[in-house]
Amino acid sequence: MEALRQQLVQLRQEIDAFPVHDAINTEDFRIRFLGTMGALKTVMAELKNVPPEQRKEAGQLLNEIKSYAESVYQQHLDRTRTTTVETSRTTDRSRSGSPQPIGSRHPVTRMKNEIVSIFQKLGFAVAEGPEIEDDWHNFGALNLPAHHPARDMQDTFYVQQNPDWVLRTHTSSVQIREMEKGTLPLRLLMPGCVFRNETISARSHCFFHQVEGLYIDEQVSFADLKQTLYFFVQEMYGKDVQIRFRPSYFPFTEPSAEMDISCFICAGAGCPVCKKSGWVEILGCGMVHPNVLRNCQIDPEKYTGFAFGMGVERPAMLKYGVNDLRLFSENDVRFLRQFPAVS
Ligand code: PHE
Repeated sequence: MEALRQQLVQLRQEIDAFPVHDAINTEDFRIRFLGTMGALKTVMAELKNVPPEQRKEAGQLLNEIKSYAESVYQQHLDRTRTTTVETSRTTDRSRSGSPQPIGSRHPVTRMKNEIVSIFQKLGFAVAEGPEIEDDWHNFGALNLPAHHPARDMQDTFYVQQNPDWVLRTHTSSVQIREMEKGTLPLRLLMPGCVFRNETISARSHCFFHQVEGLYIDEQVSFADLKQTLYFFVQEMYGKDVQIRFRPSYFPFTEPSAEMDISCFICAGAGCPVCKKSGWVEILGCGMVHPNVLRNCQIDPEKYTGFAFGMGVERPAMLKYGVNDLRLFSENDVRFLRQFPAVS
């Protein structure tokens, strides 16, 4: 009996000294003292060696140590459980984050980026400018003085507070701003939105996008313009596509032309897209008018340049099979969701 008493005192000391600081140690504690092969089971087995008259007292002592071990175990359990939760909340940086929907890229932006990236291969940089312009940058400097009949070619929105301000009708205004800076040569692309007072329908809109290009250096010729645009068309529509130029008129270029490509849908056989002509018009272009250069303090005897401008919505409609221009600006998520998030 005395031996058992000694054993129990020692066991109690062991229980108190057992180091527990997390859930794993707690389980070690349970196995060491309360498990099927644990220390308590071992001392319980001693009971049969105790003389029968002392068994009652011995049984009481054993029960006491058992419930003491169980209560210490419960305390460890409570303490380490909360510690585990706190630890995971503050330090587990390896857990994956919750996924965030990133939306999709607007089809007009996709088309614009595609056009821009082709010209970037030829060394064109991107320039941007204001959407509300003064008369000089949108018209005057572009060889369209007040009352010039060609102003009617672009139905303009005027800003009520200031009769000198317009919503830009083309991104050619950015060409002027860049030429005025006085650093030459220039090889620039000007993407952006433009505004014209047109009736809104499936085929026309008062708000749309353009990409214009400008190249000014010594000895730039119409041949350079043709070659540049031919490169663009081949990259954009494929190697088999043909181009043709038709004489045209823009006040800011001389000579001026409109460029068609052979219909990439029917390869010239005739379809609704090319209106059975075999050709699709894609842009206007020409050699920068000497007056425009002069307006920007550039000597037309020394420098020449070409410019071109194209719409973004029309090629986007053809590429993505969109049949109504209004879809681009209504921002209906059912439409926008159909375009992937990347590129
Ligand atoms: N600015 C013209 C337009 O909006 C396009 C263009 C640009 C034509 C440059 C020729 C040269 O219609």
